[in-house]
Amino acid sequence: MKNKLRILVTGANGQLGNCIRNAAAGSDDEYIFTDVDDIDITDPEAVDLGVSCNNIDVIVNCAAYTNVDKAEEQPEFAELLNAAAVRNLAEAARKNDATLIHISTDYVFGGNAGNTPHSEEEAVNPTGVYGVTKLHGEQAALESGANVLIFRTAWLYSEYGKNFVKTMLNLTATKPSLNVVFDQIGSPTYAQDLADMIVGIISRRAYADNPGIYHYSNEGVCSWYDFTKHIAEMAGNDSCDIQPCHSDEFPSPVVRPPFSVLDKTKVKETFGVAVPYWVDSLRKCIRNLMTS
Ligand SMILES: NC(=O)c1ccc[n+]([C@@H]2O[C@H](COP(=O)([O-])OP(=O)(O)OC[C@H]3O[C@@H](n4cnc5c(N)ncnc54)[C@H](OP(=O)(O)O)[C@@H]3O)[C@@H](O)[C@H]2O)c1
Repeated sequence: MKNKLRILVTGANGQLGNCIRNAAAGSDDEYIFTDVDDIDITDPEAVDLGVSCNNIDVIVNCAAYTNVDKAEEQPEFAELLNAAAVRNLAEAARKNDATLIHISTDYVFGGNAGNTPHSEEEAVNPTGVYGVTKLHGEQAALESGANVLIFRTAWLYSEYGKNFVKTMLNLTATKPSLNVVFDQIGSPTYAQDLADMIVGIISRRAYADNPGIYHYSNEGVCSWYDFTKHIAEMAGNDSCDIQPCHSDEFPSPVVRPPFSVLDKTKVKETFGVAVPYWVDSLRKCIRNLMTS
């Protein structure tokens, strides 16, 4: 294995992409950050050239069609970006002897009822166009024959882009009252924690012998209501009356996963990573947002 790896990050201007930039800042490896204007991952030739001409060893794909509701109106575009483009990346990885690290979602289990954390072996049952197209992306990557690692995550937030934490910081500061669903349960994930883990795995070259699917979220469990209560409390937004409500109060074109908790045993055992508790990570993110 080379002393210094060359790593291509796609979708680098999104939440996770920005966090990979932070995580890689002190790395001895060489990271190349691209977004749609540099390498449009739906273009197979652009992907192949980007990988071969840059002598890429590892691709980290942070690009995706992530708007769950809008995906229902644009199923073909969602399939192009979440599945066909992943096939392009995996194919380029295989041809160039590189590894693809790809990100997927709890929505592949969206239709599964119950209250047992989802393991990697559990049968998938995706909800909505987003869930189905992300599953197709996983399948395309795994079928390619490349060395592929897929990290399924959930409830991603960060200092970057649009996300639940930033929305709720704003709403709890400006609204006198707010109803938030308490009947969808999951584990929030600070994108910086996921990025730190991915960059750590690359630094230790631990990706080479460990292909497959892994689950990663922060530790602990909550509802969107609990999540909002913590956000408001940490920000000192105490004048907003936050009440729990049922999901049917917010009609949506997509059935949201009622139980999104991911079992992280495999990722912890394989890579020896410590996973931060969601409340501790949320505190860090809110501190950063409030001091920036
Ligand atoms: N957000 C969540 O709650 C969540 C939960 C579970 C899993 N995930 C998964 O985690 C991963 C990262 O999500 P994220 O929230 O960081 O995503 P994000 O913030 O939406 O970022 C995605 C990035 O991909 C770029 N992109 C779009 N089309 C592209 C193309 N054709 N070629 C290259 N880049 C393109 C986007 O650019 P534009 O902004 O210009 O379109 C954006 O910069 C995704 O795989 C997502 O499915 C997310």
